[in-house]
Amino acid sequence: MSLQHVNKEALIGSAALGVVFLAGCYIGKRRSKFIGMDIFKSHSGGKDNPLMQYVVKNSLREHPALKKLRLRTMEHSLNFIMVASEQSQLMANLARLIKAKKAIEIGVYTGYNALSIALALPDDGRMVACDVSEEFTNMGKPFWKEAGVEHKIDLRLQPALKTLDDLLAAGEAETYDFIFIDADKVNYDNYYEKSLQLLRKGGIIAIDNVLWSGKVVNPAEDDLDTKCIDKLNKKLHKDVRINISMLTVGDGLTLAFKI
Ligand SMILES: C[S@@+](CC[C@H](N)C(=O)[O-])C[C@H]1O[C@@H](n2cnc3c(N)ncnc32)[C@H](O)[C@@H]1O
Ligand SMILES: *[C@@H]1O[C@H](CO)[C@@H](O)[C@H](O)[C@H]1NC(C)=O
Repeated sequence: MSLQHVNKEALIGSAALGVVFLAGCYIGKRRSKFIGMDIFKSHSGGKDNPLMQYVVKNSLREHPALKKLRLRTMEHSLNFIMVASEQSQLMANLARLIKAKKAIEIGVYTGYNALSIALALPDDGRMVACDVSEEFTNMGKPFWKEAGVEHKIDLRLQPALKTLDDLLAAGEAETYDFIFIDADKVNYDNYYEKSLQLLRKGGIIAIDNVLWSGKVVNPAEDDLDTKCIDKLNKKLHKDVRINISMLTVGDGLTLAFKI
C-alpha cells in the first residue's frame, strides 16, 4: 500500500466521519428544536406552518359564532391557551359520533370548546362548564347566546374538583358521555379519576396538553407540571379500565374510551 493510497483512504475516512458528525448535529438541532417547540396549534406554534394552514383551510367548518369567539379570544393576551380549532372540531365530531347528551369541560377559558361541544349536543343536552375565572368565561357568554346554545351550558365558577364532587354527590356517576380535561396540570390525575367515575361505559375522556410542548420527553427535575402529565401518561398506558389513543394534534391529546 503506497503512502499516497493510505492518505487517500484516511482522507475519505475522515470525510465520512465529518458527514456523520454534521448529520448528527443537524438531527440534534432538529430534535432540540422539536423538544423546545411552541404549542403546535393552528393559532399558535403552527401559525406560520404551511401544512397546518392547508389542514385548516381544507377542513375547518366553524359555526359563525364559534369563529367570532375565536377571533375575539385572539385579542386576549393568553390566546395561546385556547384550544386549537382543528382539535375542537375533532372532539365535537367524536361527541356527535357517540350521540353525547351530557358533557363536562374542566377548564373553559373563553369557552371556545364549550361552545363547540354544546353545538354538537341535542337541544336537551347539557354541558357542565368548570372554571374559576369570571373574567375569561364572560368573554364567551355573548357568543354562546348568539349560537343559541346558552341554555345547554351550565357554568360552575368554583374549583373544578368541587364541581365534580358535587356531580358525584348528586348521583350522576356513570351518566356522562364526553369529558374534556384542560385545567391546572397538578390536578390532572384527580380530574381523570373523578371523570372516570362520572363517565358511562363507551364514553370518552379527552385530555389536553399531554405532550406539553414536548417537555414530557425529558421532564426537568423541578418541573412539577411536566412530571404530573408524564406520570399520568404512563399510568393511562397501563390502565385496563380504558382503551386509549394519544394524538399529536394541538399540544397533544389523549382519548380514553371507558370499557
Ligand atoms: C387551557 S385553559 C382552557 C381552554 C379551553 N378549554 C378552550 O376551549 O380554549 C385553562 C383554564 O383552566 C382554568 N382553571 C385553572 N385552574 C382551575 C381549577 N382549579 N378549577 C377550574 N378551572 C381552573 C383557568 O381559569 C383557564 O381558564
Ligand atoms: C376496547 O378495545 C377492545 C379491543 O382491544 C374492544 O373489543 C372493545 O370494544 C373496546 N372498548 C371500547 C369501549 O372502545
